[in-house]
Amino acid sequence: MKYFIANWKSNLTLTEAQHWIEELVSPESNSQQIIIAPPFTLVAELSKHLTNLHQVALAVQDLSPYPAGSYTGAISVRNIEGLTVTYVIVGHSERRRYFHETHAEVAMKVTQALEHDLTPILCIDDEYLLAQAVALDPEMLSKCIVAYEPLEAIGSGLNQPIDDVVKVVQQIREVCQPVAVVYGGSVDAENVAQYLAVTDGVLVGGASLAVEEFSKLLS
Ligand code: PGA
Repeated sequence: MKYFIANWKSNLTLTEAQHWIEELVSPESNSQQIIIAPPFTLVAELSKHLTNLHQVALAVQDLSPYPAGSYTGAISVRNIEGLTVTYVIVGHSERRRYFHETHAEVAMKVTQALEHDLTPILCIDDEYLLAQAVALDPEMLSKCIVAYEPLEAIGSGLNQPIDDVVKVVQQIREVCQPVAVVYGGSVDAENVAQYLAVTDGVLVGGASLAVEEFSKLLS
């Protein structure tokens, strides 16, 4: 299985998202899985389209570390029940950097996700790979998709050299024994093939915003 994860971050309006999903040609092959991670505000709208699309699933970009309750502003697993969300991105470096998320909070989010049958897409960088792994128990790690996202490659156009990716992906497979390992960081139609050859897929930011560009990654 090859995963193609479209992380829209804080981009796209409702109208743009509707256009995106209408223009998406879902893969013919059962070995390609598209995962769209829209902002929370667009999840309900996109979930209406999923039944017509083959091999396309939804993720949320984040999750409250707490269960349902008095946590103003936080989106709990209960809030997304019934919205056909299957995956949740946790621990993205932008969350760690701008929102000061700690390893412990990331672990709480993974716990929330797994308790409610959501598959975590756990983002890590080689610098804190071991600290991250220690924060999660091995059984939890084995239920995650792990995304290797080198900081300097994200949003910079400086995609990581393939030799480094091979090395870190191997380390992640050994330490975490996850469901799958994907690479993220300036992936585009020109460079995607080399990453697909050595990983289980890609996590794509900038090149996922236009459906035409994202679709090129699949071919
Ligand atoms: P990018 O983002 O493709 O724009 O580098 C990747 C990511 O942040 O997951």
